[in-house]
Amino acid sequence: MALIEDFEERYLLGVPAMDRNHREFVDLVNDMAASGNAVFAYLFNEMVQHTHAHFAAEEMLMRETGFSAAAEHRDEHRRVLGEMEWFGDRLQLGYVSMARAYVVERLPAWFKEHAVTMDSALAAYVRRQHRA
Ligand SMILES: [Fe+2]
Ligand SMILES: [Fe+2]
Repeated sequence: MALIEDFEERYLLGVPAMDRNHREFVDLVNDMAASGNAVFAYLFNEMVQHTHAHFAAEEMLMRETGFSAAAEHRDEHRRVLGEMEWFGDRLQLGYVSMARAYVVERLPAWFKEHAVTMDSALAAYVRRQHRA
């Protein structure tokens, strides 16, 4: 069963670069949940790289548009990357079940919350800027 239901309407934010990153993230998380340990470790590493690029792209959008809540949003990105990398290090040390628990129990809830709050606010702001 997918951890994050098929990319739902409510996660679509109307900014194509953000939507593409989010869809790829959801696919990675769902694929990890369905993978054996070797593939899981490979995909976890992919997810860390992908998340670096995903967050960097949003932070560039914030800089380019002068988004006012950029500092909190960036701090949240730093926090999540730190957490992801911490679990990635545990995974390298062989603690697969810890990393799996993180992916199953924490990442889906984090994504759902972040997409509909901070990312949604950024996307609404970017869309308004484009119309102006
Ligand atoms: Fe995002
Ligand atoms: Fe974000």
